[in-house]
Amino acid sequence: MLLRALCCCLFFSTAVVLCAGGKGHISIVLLGATGDLAKKYLWQGFFQLYVNEVSRRHSFSFHGAALTPPEKGSELMFNVLKSLSCPVDITPDRCVLLKDQFLKLSRYRQLKTAENYTALHLDIQKSLADEGLHEAGRLFYLSVPPFAYADIAKNINASCRPLPGAWLRVVLEKPFGHDYESAKSLAAELQTYFQEEEIYRVDHYLGKQTVEQILPFRLSNLKHLDPIWNRHHVERVEIVMKETLDAKGRISFYEEYGVIRDVIQNHLTEILASVAMEVPRNLSSSEDILRAKLSLLDSLHKLELGSAVAGQYQDYLAQVKEEIETKPNFFTNTKTFAAVLVHVDNVRWEGVPFLLLSGKALDERTAFVRVVFKDNAFCVQKQSNRDPLRNSCKPKQIIFHIGHGEIGSPAILVSQGLFKPNVNPSKWQRASELPSIQVFGQPLSDYYVYHPIVEKDAYSVLISNIYRGKKDSFITTKNLLASWSFWTPLLESLEHESPRVYPGGTGNEQLLDFVIEDGSLRFVTDENLEVLSVAPKINVFSSTQSSFLGNSMVSDWAESLIQTLGRDIQNAAEESIKRSGVFHLALSGGSSPLALFQRLSRHHHGFPWKHTHLWLVDERCVPFTESDSNFGNIEKHLLQHVRIPYVNIHPMPVQRNQRLCDIEDMGNQTYAEDIFALVGNASFDFVLLGLGNDGHTASIFPGKEDGIYGRSTVLLTESPQKPHQRMSLSLPLINKAQKVAILVLGKGKHEILTLISRAEKTPKKWPIHGVNPTPGKLVWYIDYETLLR
Ligand SMILES: *[C@@H]1O[C@H](CO)[C@@H](O)[C@H](O)[C@H]1NC(C)=O
Ligand SMILES: *[C@@H]1O[C@H](CO)[C@@H](O)[C@H](O)[C@H]1NC(C)=O
Ligand SMILES: *[C@@H]1O[C@H](CO)[C@@H](O)[C@H](O)[C@H]1NC(C)=O
Ligand SMILES: *[C@@H]1O[C@H](CO)[C@@H](O)[C@H](O)[C@H]1NC(C)=O
Ligand SMILES: *[C@@H]1O[C@H](CO)[C@@H](O)[C@H](O)[C@H]1NC(C)=O
Repeated sequence: MLLRALCCCLFFSTAVVLCAGGKGHISIVLLGATGDLAKKYLWQGFFQLYVNEVSRRHSFSFHGAALTPPEKGSELMFNVLKSLSCPVDITPDRCVLLKDQFLKLSRYRQLKTAENYTALHLDIQKSLADEGLHEAGRLFYLSVPPFAYADIAKNINASCRPLPGAWLRVVLEKPFGHDYESAKSLAAELQTYFQEEEIYRVDHYLGKQTVEQILPFRLSNLKHLDPIWNRHHVERVEIVMKETLDAKGRISFYEEYGVIRDVIQNHLTEILASVAMEVPRNLSSSEDILRAKLSLLDSLHKLELGSAVAGQYQDYLAQVKEEIETKPNFFTNTKTFAAVLVHVDNVRWEGVPFLLLSGKALDERTAFVRVVFKDNAFCVQKQSNRDPLRNSCKPKQIIFHIGHGEIGSPAILVSQGLFKPNVNPSKWQRASELPSIQVFGQPLSDYYVYHPIVEKDAYSVLISNIYRGKKDSFITTKNLLASWSFWTPLLESLEHESPRVYPGGTGNEQLLDFVIEDGSLRFVTDENLEVLSVAPKINVFSSTQSSFLGNSMVSDWAESLIQTLGRDIQNAAEESIKRSGVFHLALSGGSSPLALFQRLSRHHHGFPWKHTHLWLVDERCVPFTESDSNFGNIEKHLLQHVRIPYVNIHPMPVQRNQRLCDIEDMGNQTYAEDIFALVGNASFDFVLLGLGNDGHTASIFPGKEDGIYGRSTVLLTESPQKPHQRMSLSLPLINKAQKVAILVLGKGKHEILTLISRAEKTPKKWPIHGVNPTPGKLVWYIDYETLLR
């Protein structure tokens, strides 16, 4: 015994099998053992590992762990294990045998408290001793939400480390932070518990068979690729992951992350690195690969706002409202689609566009990398390489097809006009039969096509790589931070950009198509509001037109109502501009119009902002920087996002001579003069009003005559609510307008609406009764919640 221990301590790694007579033992602890990922992939991956390794160097035990108490947890876990499927490369008999063994080697444990971890450690020690086994390693797979990492890491470090000589590997699932700073502090925390070589961050795309094959493919075809894998020959590289599903069911995650953080910062960036980095000559060296990858990430050209176009599928907002609690006028800028133009600043790639694209609710599910070669090389020989229609060389491309799409299974495609590739014959084979489909403009038969001999799930591949300590299949701290430092500035600048709204699926048509122009991306089409209204609405009510207090009324659910109002404003704008060359729009403050401002700002492309003058109906006497400044809100939710000329913006001059609304400063007089000077006949083209819970409209309050009668056009008023002082257009001025809209949203307005509808029409009691545009038309926009409560 002493001899054995001594021997093993001296030659612990490879000598153990010889000297101890027994095998080295590996304990695998899966935290989150009954969760979705474990059920779907991880247990299957561990079973596959066991099948592959059972007769080799190591023996195994598997500890599934979760917070659930032992009895319940054990039942849940064994239900999963019983339904594991058999790998295709073993016989059914052998599978039955191995599965039986695998189940016997598996235990469920509750891991909740520090004591539970200590107990696990002692149990492992004890069984090792009982069976005369030597410990070779311990693997902890954390399939748990990131907020649990720190606690678990602390417990593993404190009481669950293997004895010296055996390795510890701790596997983590994304998200690894939210931006550069959060990733950095998360990484710093982990590093207090673990060495860098102990940390395995999973990006499951690195386990996809096609992705895993990119570097070996590049190396084994170096002779052909070296001359053409550069800016002289590559036209562009497309790295694409399209999904048909939307974010329904995982909104609370998605709302915080969005498409760039969810898949582009990680999966697509990893693929970009595999395609663009220098290929190390020795792919067995993880360090060489990781170093080359880091150097590539460091040479990416800084992104700018114009580097990306972004979208949001139309139902997203409704899903957010359904799945997470939101305020009534909640709007979100979260992107569910993005395309990003990336450049690599090195001699090989300078000027070559790399397009990274992903989105939800698109027309197809597919993932691929497509390297498109320029049309000026390699059309030397065979006539069959010529495209008879274009009398030029056929397109030359290499496609790493990752999954789904028309091709379905993983595949590597090389245009026959390029070269016949070497693809690792122990893992890949040439397709024997090709379906007659077109792939990127060419029949499949124009390509050399290879598929994996055995299709493997990404997690099985990764689990095997963890076991083998193949660190280049995982994300190191340095590479993680390099990626975040590349993406964070773009994420920050996109935060306040409204995404283009798209209907989803085939309805997207050309809406998301984009072009590269002067080093930026731009959508091809202007936004067409019609496209957005075609998506089916599951409403018992359809938008109804009727009348209210003798004027027309539009009513609908809030979102559609805002959409209609937005469109009506745009129509009014187009008419006015046709008639007089300008559009004078006066907007109210308050919370109801916020949704409209956001709507206008996200559909700003078709709107004639250049010819629009923007005025305020009323203002609170506070500095513009205060959160209750009407102008401040319009600025934040609308003006920042649209291209309206600076000189066309007319805030009310509530602050003059460092005073707020002092009558002596004559701010109201100045505003009136501006209106009379710029707005023809002082007749606004469109005035948007609201209705306060206390019955005020503009800043004209019930019970007084100010602003209802008399000659003042812009006046100072007093509100019963703070801030008391207000500036407001008078009703006589408002009544000169061509169109007046009154927007009323939310249950909270039901009562006042009922009240004014029953009351006598004396404007002094309810100023809204005094709104009656002489040359124009008044329309009420009231949502169903207000009407029906
Ligand atoms: C885990 O620890 C708690 C508190 O230390 C203990 O009550 C519980 O029995 C432990 N669970 C198991 C399965 O040992
Ligand atoms: C990790 O464990 C070691 C050994 O128990 C301990 O000395 C060290 O303080 C632990 N690290 C942290 C950050 O808790
Ligand atoms: C390749 O790298 C591995 C791992 O670092 C090393 O063991 C091997 O000797 C290297 N091979 C060559 C040819 O340098
Ligand atoms: C102003 O009013 C007059 C008389 O109603 C009308 O003829 C003229 O077209 C109006 N001007 C503008 C700019 O609307
Ligand atoms: C400015 O406001 C005061 C106070 O409300 C009012 O008496 C006066 O008529 C206003 N001036 C104009 C031009 O409307």
